[in-house]
Amino acid sequence: MRVPKFADPAIDLRSDTITRPSAGMRAAMAAAEVGDDVYGEDPTINALQRRVAEMLGHEAGLFVPSGSMGNLLGLWCLVNPGQEVLCDARAHLARGELGAHAALHGITMRTWTSFTGVADANTITKLISPKTAFLVQTAAVALENTHNFGGGSVQPIKHIRQISKACREMGIGLHLDGARLWNAHVATGVSLADYGQPFDTVTVCFSKGLGAPAGSMLVSSAANIERAREQRKRLGGGMRQIGILAAAAGYALDHNVSRLAADHAAAAAFAAEVANAVPEAVTSPQTNIVVVDTGTTSAAKLAHEAAKIGVKLSVIGPRTVRAVTSLEVTLPAAMTAGRLVGRLLAKA
Ligand SMILES: Cc1ncc(COP(=O)(O)O)c(C=O)c1O
Repeated sequence: MRVPKFADPAIDLRSDTITRPSAGMRAAMAAAEVGDDVYGEDPTINALQRRVAEMLGHEAGLFVPSGSMGNLLGLWCLVNPGQEVLCDARAHLARGELGAHAALHGITMRTWTSFTGVADANTITKLISPKTAFLVQTAAVALENTHNFGGGSVQPIKHIRQISKACREMGIGLHLDGARLWNAHVATGVSLADYGQPFDTVTVCFSKGLGAPAGSMLVSSAANIERAREQRKRLGGGMRQIGILAAAAGYALDHNVSRLAADHAAAAAFAAEVANAVPEAVTSPQTNIVVVDTGTTSAAKLAHEAAKIGVKLSVIGPRTVRAVTSLEVTLPAAMTAGRLVGRLLAKA
């Protein structure tokens, strides 16, 4: 098979956050009705909050600038300073939020290990502290669906329900980092409400594969969302005429959810091309993220070499790089990138 020497234009597989708003999305933003959201008077924001809460089977929603702020506020609803949240060692909460939960609210964290990030009730329940005065109290468990550093893996709905039942029986909160819950929904056909309802608090993002320029949403009970609204203002996250962002998110929900299947197909094609050259470097992805094992080569070196031939990857570990497909990456481009990366790995 002919392998090109380099990709021109460059193929950017660093993240699905690189997606730029389309002309249709920009038109929807330009036409949005707006008001001051700190006064609760932005009609487009209010409609989006109602829509997304309903989609996920919750009472209320709060638009936040980022997924990180959604996770922060969600956990603050469930965990007091000095208490702990349990999550897996590769969770975005544990690795990607720069210790905000500890730094800003005194939350401690204990983790379990799982290569793909897929969680099971047995592992988690063993970690929950008994209610005593001399152990840090476990106040919540957090799951991630799909799992970013676990290679876009989907949490099986059966596991989620078992974990939710165990948490409810033990009086512990359950938070979902659903930055890419849309991808799980498209990959499995499980409804967003079925994915959302087992949790007390859920964060979803519009600014990843859905292609909006910014914005995430926290959904929960009306009482939790009222508290989160106050905390959002305390963090400086109260914004004004942001109906323009809600219009982008609404457009993304109307036009960019079902097309995620194309990103999943592109990721599978990328992985298949890498596997043609070095079978042990990848497993077949469930959604739009491929974690590549760089073997004996350093991940930083591999990413550097790949960038020189026009393929941009993220380094996520000493021997792992990540490739993420999105609406910016066509199927032929994903295949070209897979061939180029496969060739580099085979030479290494
Ligand atoms: C799984 C997951 N959760 C949360 C976030 C945080 O989102 P943001 O970058 O909007 O803060 C990300 C970002 O990539 C993510 O991948």
